[in-house]
Amino acid sequence: MTSVDRSAFITGITGQDGAYLAQLLLAKGYKVYGLSPRRSNSDINLARLEWLGIARDVELLDGDMTDLSSLIRALQTANPTEVYNLAAQSFVKTSWDQPLLTGQVTGLGAANLLEAVRLIKPDARFYQASTSEMYGLIQEPMQSETTPFYPRSPYAVAKLYAHWLTVNYRESFGLFACSGILFNHESPLRGLEFVTRKVTDGVARIKLGLAKELRLGNIDAKRDWGHARDYVEAMWLMLQQETADDFVIATGRTTTVRDMCKIAFEAAGLAIDEHLVIDPAFFRPAEVEVLLGNPSKAHQKLGWEATTSLETMIREMYEADLARLRQLNH
Ligand code: NAP
Ligand code: GDD
Repeated sequence: MTSVDRSAFITGITGQDGAYLAQLLLAKGYKVYGLSPRRSNSDINLARLEWLGIARDVELLDGDMTDLSSLIRALQTANPTEVYNLAAQSFVKTSWDQPLLTGQVTGLGAANLLEAVRLIKPDARFYQASTSEMYGLIQEPMQSETTPFYPRSPYAVAKLYAHWLTVNYRESFGLFACSGILFNHESPLRGLEFVTRKVTDGVARIKLGLAKELRLGNIDAKRDWGHARDYVEAMWLMLQQETADDFVIATGRTTTVRDMCKIAFEAAGLAIDEHLVIDPAFFRPAEVEVLLGNPSKAHQKLGWEATTSLETMIREMYEADLARLRQLNH
């Protein structure tokens, strides 16, 4: 198949991963379609695609993960060879405040899309954005594809349903359906509510005299953090294999929130102890204390490995926030 024959339909194209994945696929010569839910301000919604300079290169199709008919219409129009399901209510803390919405979008939304694929384009290759959050209360010190799951939030429970449904549609209907179990991945395009971006934005604000303190919750939590640009490459690789399978995508290194913060404060030349405040408002009803992924299978079968260190990524994010805030406050 030549690159011009290849087309992709991405749900969640306006999010962090959707934007990087669209950029990757456009560079490979794909025709890229994205699902566009109704929002009151399309300027804000397109900000990430604009930042990457690709907003005009993708074709957006109206639709919402909770509306099966809109997914059917979008797939009929796009007729894609590959479908990437990245749409979700993806902020873990919000999932305790909006558990039903999270279930509808993140869990049943995947069911809607799998049904639409099964009805309209059963030969399309399907990618499901699964997550290390499914390991939750970890059952093994290093988590791989065979580690049992123990979700700890309504978000993780919804994702676990979507993960098993993806496996089930592969086994039941022969769909080429893959589940990528991705550990945390970040970038300058990360939402401001997630801890890495909150930290790099917060430290940049302190540096510019726009804020005095940074308020965080559980800084003892440990995460396996990689760069989103590396991780969307793994999504694409999964759909290029001979058979559909599930893969853990991770760096194999885990770091506390505290040590991640230190990297940002050091980049700014600031003393962490003078600015960091622990605020119980940011603690969660149930915490995932530590995540550490084993990416061996992805390395062996996909030839994939993470290329960006946490230090490099946090500095990149801090510099991007500093530049953006300088421009805004000029
Ligand atoms: P994100 O930035 O929060 O993007 C989520 C996307 O979903 C946005 O484009 C959003 O559109 C869209 N969306 C939300 N509700 C929708 C609905 N009802 N109908 C259609 N679209 C809807 O997330 P991300 O960091 O790029 O992550 C991409 C996917 O990977 C998510 O499924 C996430 O759960 C999963 N994941 C992420 C990580 C990570 O560390 N980043 C790790 C593992 C798995 P609006 O912007 O218009 O709301
Ligand atoms: N957001 C946030 N804000 N997190 C904080 C804060 C704070 O002020 N203080 C400490 N943390 C801790 C959280 O309690 C958690 O243990 C850790 O920092 C990471 O939080 P997030 O960045 O919000 O990410 P997450 O790990 O909960 O979820 C992200 O990664 C998952 C993959 O493991 C999201 O992208 C999910 O969608 C994704 O599935």
